Amino acid sequence: MSRRFDLLLRGGRCVLPAGLAEADIGVRGGKVAAIGGLGDAGAETEIDAGALHVLPGVIDSQVHMREPGLEHKEDFATGTAAAALGGVTAVMEMPNTKPNTTTAADLADKARRARGRAWCDMAFFVGATGGNVESLGDLERLPSCAGVKVFMGSSTGSLLVDDDATLAQVLANGSRRVAVHCEDEPRLRERFALVEGGAAVAMHAEWRDAETARRATERLLRLAGGVGRRVHVLHVTTAAEMDLLPGYRDIATVEVTPQHLTLAAPDAYDRLGTRAQMNPPIRDAAHRDALWRALDQGLVDVIGSDHAPHTLEEKAKPYPQSPSGMPGVQTLLPVMLDHVNAGRLTLERLVDLTAAGPARVYGIAGKGRIALGHDADFALVDLKARKTLSDRWIASRCGWTPFDGMRVTGWPVATILRGQVVMRDGAVVGEPRGTALRFQDTLA
Ligand code: DOR
Repeated sequence: MSRRFDLLLRGGRCVLPAGLAEADIGVRGGKVAAIGGLGDAGAETEIDAGALHVLPGVIDSQVHMREPGLEHKEDFATGTAAAALGGVTAVMEMPNTKPNTTTAADLADKARRARGRAWCDMAFFVGATGGNVESLGDLERLPSCAGVKVFMGSSTGSLLVDDDATLAQVLANGSRRVAVHCEDEPRLRERFALVEGGAAVAMHAEWRDAETARRATERLLRLAGGVGRRVHVLHVTTAAEMDLLPGYRDIATVEVTPQHLTLAAPDAYDRLGTRAQMNPPIRDAAHRDALWRALDQGLVDVIGSDHAPHTLEEKAKPYPQSPSGMPGVQTLLPVMLDHVNAGRLTLERLVDLTAAGPARVYGIAGKGRIALGHDADFALVDLKARKTLSDRWIASRCGWTPFDGMRVTGWPVATILRGQVVMRDGAVVGEPRGTALRFQDTLA
């Protein structure tokens, strides 16, 4: 008797846990039910993936969706539509909204707002502050909570843990991996005079210099190492941090962003002005090369976009009043596929960094690999398609990308979320069916 599935992907080049292989994939009840030659099996929906590569859907573990309070930049509907257009099937959202996400009620509010409006699955970080540090161990276990996020240096919004005593308390409360933005606030304050009265935007990387990042990362690793707390060092940007991190691999995992792997000073600031302004900053090519070396040598666990939309009107303010951050959830995959085509990393390594890696780092249940019983989340990509990234393609409410005009080879042509097609040929399709991510640490 032939087998029957809800969805059959026929003949794609699949990136499986064992490597790249041509296979059919059968999906039932939103899960991967069969992988291999599925011959005369039938399905409600069949997709000929013959000319395509089938990757696990991208899990972007650092995005700012701006809801509630900053919906003029982005909301859950626009931000997750951008995700789906870029082959992303899950996002982990940051707490520097208005209000900041610091309580159980804030987390529940975000989950309620996302219901019925998200085009991908979601989880939400709770922000650490001096005020909620005692309750972080309880907050991090709430449904749809991605864990605790710490800003060691001030960035967009008011979340900040700038002293070692409070940071040590954060690390002592709770057990899940803590995501940390490492810039040293005392040094940022000391050096602000460099840009305070107005400066060229390229000075952003001088004010928030490499030593600012190194100092914070060193402080974090020392404190986390001392108590054995797992930490995820977000958007690492410097050679010096990459030199420190191998000494802490029992507790520390590492993220880099596509923009820090692709853009470099001074060219980025010359071409893009304040659109290139983000925290931590885009640095020179020597630092960018160090990130690639770390990635090659297995030190980098995750590529996350740090999707941080601001309107062009806001970006047009004179530096340093212009806000830091750039959108990226929609361009993560095409930009990185272009690096694959240029021979800078393999497709298998990219999949590890964008799907299996985030699932491993955060203990996401049932996602990140094309494997029996896992969620049927896929990005179907045409590895040979040549396209030009443009502001017009961007679904994020901010309506621009720092990669406008970049010619890329490799493109996501369909996105499948738990067995349902949510994007095909550049348009979201069906319904926004995103649900809450589940985590191994808190399944109980
Ligand atoms: O450039 C940044 N923008 N870095 C951050 O840490 C926050 C982000 C934002 O929310 O705008």
